Amino acid sequence: MQVTGHIPELRDIIRGYKKEGKRVSFVPTMGALHDGHLSLIRLAKKHSEVVVVSIYVNPKQFAPNEDFASYPTSLEQDLSFCEQEGVSLIFTPDTDVMYNQELFFSIDIHTLNEYLDGASRQGYFQGIALVVNKLFNIVEPDVAIFGQKDYQQYKVIETLVEEFNHGIELLMAPIERASDGLALSSRNAYLTPAQREVAPLLYKSLMSAKKQIEQGMKDWPTMFMNLQQALSEAGFRNDYFGIFDTDKLHPVQQIVDGQSYLIAVAAYLGKARLIDNVIFTNKTLIKGES
Ligand code: PAJ
Repeated sequence: MQVTGHIPELRDIIRGYKKEGKRVSFVPTMGALHDGHLSLIRLAKKHSEVVVVSIYVNPKQFAPNEDFASYPTSLEQDLSFCEQEGVSLIFTPDTDVMYNQELFFSIDIHTLNEYLDGASRQGYFQGIALVVNKLFNIVEPDVAIFGQKDYQQYKVIETLVEEFNHGIELLMAPIERASDGLALSSRNAYLTPAQREVAPLLYKSLMSAKKQIEQGMKDWPTMFMNLQQALSEAGFRNDYFGIFDTDKLHPVQQIVDGQSYLIAVAAYLGKARLIDNVIFTNKTLIKGES
């Protein structure tokens, strides 16, 4: 496994793989790797001979009030996880490699970020689009893998690939969870033991919403309000909880048979901002189905 923080060296190595006719897949991360990240690497391995992982905490996707300065890092452990998973190349750039002092361009997003995390986190997806666009130009992978955990991020990047003609195949990996249902996240490290015990309620609430909707619940505002009330009584500070179409990510007022929907939730627990989601297809009323 090779590790470099330098773009020309990374490009040389990748050019070598391509000369040998190898397909290159790419897993961008901000480090503090856990089984969720590793599942992306495993999926990448199934689709290519070579897996490239980037580890870079991108300052542009953190608002001034967010946790950039305290974001968890564990580079030594990350490298050894990657080595065990058979990663070929790790890109660990410093910020002066990724960004010039003065930037003349930014990526504006006109849609897809009006709701969910886009509404709550100022400049978040602009920062992600900027860094991923750069990483794609640096690595030039055949395939790139992102997690469903950040579904809105996936959709933003899908659109970026299409509009900026990156010609990269994208894959979405399912959400990896702890045995009690909590979605794995680098930010779970902020939870105290007591908060960690409460945290799976987020996933349970999500499952409860899904079940109620599948059973025909129509009064979603009341349902989401009640679920948020329970979360708040358990110590969460609510951000959003709702149902959205999986394409444009707009809130939906009613559901149509056979159509897929995203139920998504975000809430703070102590210092951690936790997000989770589930995608489901409304099948209850499909004709001829028992
Ligand atoms: P990071 O939060 O490190 O996540 C890297 C990738 O791992 C993302 O695609 C994310 O969706 C995926 N991931 C995180 N937790 C997961 C889980 N429990 N199950 C499955 N996949 C999971 O997302 C970012 O970094 C950054 O925004 C980045 C794309 C690297 C740009 O800076």
